Amino acid sequence: MTNFKGLDILDGAQFSREDLEHVMAVAADFRQQLAQQPGLDLLKGYVMGTLFFEASTRTRLSFETAMLRLGGGVVGFASAAGTSTSKGESLADTIRTVDQYVDVIAMRHPEIGSARVAAEAAQVPVINGGDGAGQHPTQALLDLFTIRSERAQVDGTTIVLCGDLKNGRTVHAGVELYKHYDCKLIFVAPEQLKMPADITAHLRAHGVTVEETTDMAAALAQADVFYMTRIQKERFADPAEYERLKGSYVLTRELIERVRPNATILHPLPRVDEITTDVDALSNAAYFRQVQNGVTVRMALIALVLGKVE
Ligand code: NCD
Repeated sequence: MTNFKGLDILDGAQFSREDLEHVMAVAADFRQQLAQQPGLDLLKGYVMGTLFFEASTRTRLSFETAMLRLGGGVVGFASAAGTSTSKGESLADTIRTVDQYVDVIAMRHPEIGSARVAAEAAQVPVINGGDGAGQHPTQALLDLFTIRSERAQVDGTTIVLCGDLKNGRTVHAGVELYKHYDCKLIFVAPEQLKMPADITAHLRAHGVTVEETTDMAAALAQADVFYMTRIQKERFADPAEYERLKGSYVLTRELIERVRPNATILHPLPRVDEITTDVDALSNAAYFRQVQNGVTVRMALIALVLGKVE
């Protein structure tokens, strides 16, 4: 198994199945501990830097909550507007600066590959909270954790990923985890927003069964897990193209009840209109439990990279 102490968490492909099982076990342990007490003092005196150059609600707040519940502290920013980036400072120099203050960095940035640039500039571990349309490994880990807690098993499941598979970093990271399990993957996207061909080819070379379709209902009929995603408006160079594609798929309660009433419904959130709000009351709509799992999974990652749990 990988030694997590000092490790940067940059993409989904860096983990073995053994690593994944370990992160899940540590997260489950923290979840149990938090059921008994609001917080721990494992990281007393430690500080995390949360550097968010791009919009976020859940990822930043759950990183911060995770650090606070571990007993540590947080400094950071939620937009580059008030920082020296707006004066022209390079990402590497910003990172070299924050590196002097903190023990671990969580970062989100609009450019693909930015997390790796930050990791090279930093001495402390860097955790990627999303690099443009690239990767979002902590979301993928909490998605996996949620599938395990909702369905007990990941092996043997058919997982449908639907929506903007071209630009969605959560699905780019997620498939790198699912490939270690005996899953069938079905990708549902409009032709213009398909999963990048290199990712699909890499999964097939790894022995994963992958199907691609534009037919959401047919895919739902086979789904154990249905993972819906938002069309990533901010990645479109042409606003008219976004307008054309934004309503491509809308998952409704009526469809779920008719086609596959027991499928576990996930979404990394934020939702725009791709899941109607009447779905929320279904017991198998798990996206707000998914949000909650973000805290314990990030607690696990922070404690692991700081070497406070083994
Ligand atoms: C996702 C993201 O930012 O990539 N959200 C998240 O982190 N929970 C998905 C999205 O923005 O659509």
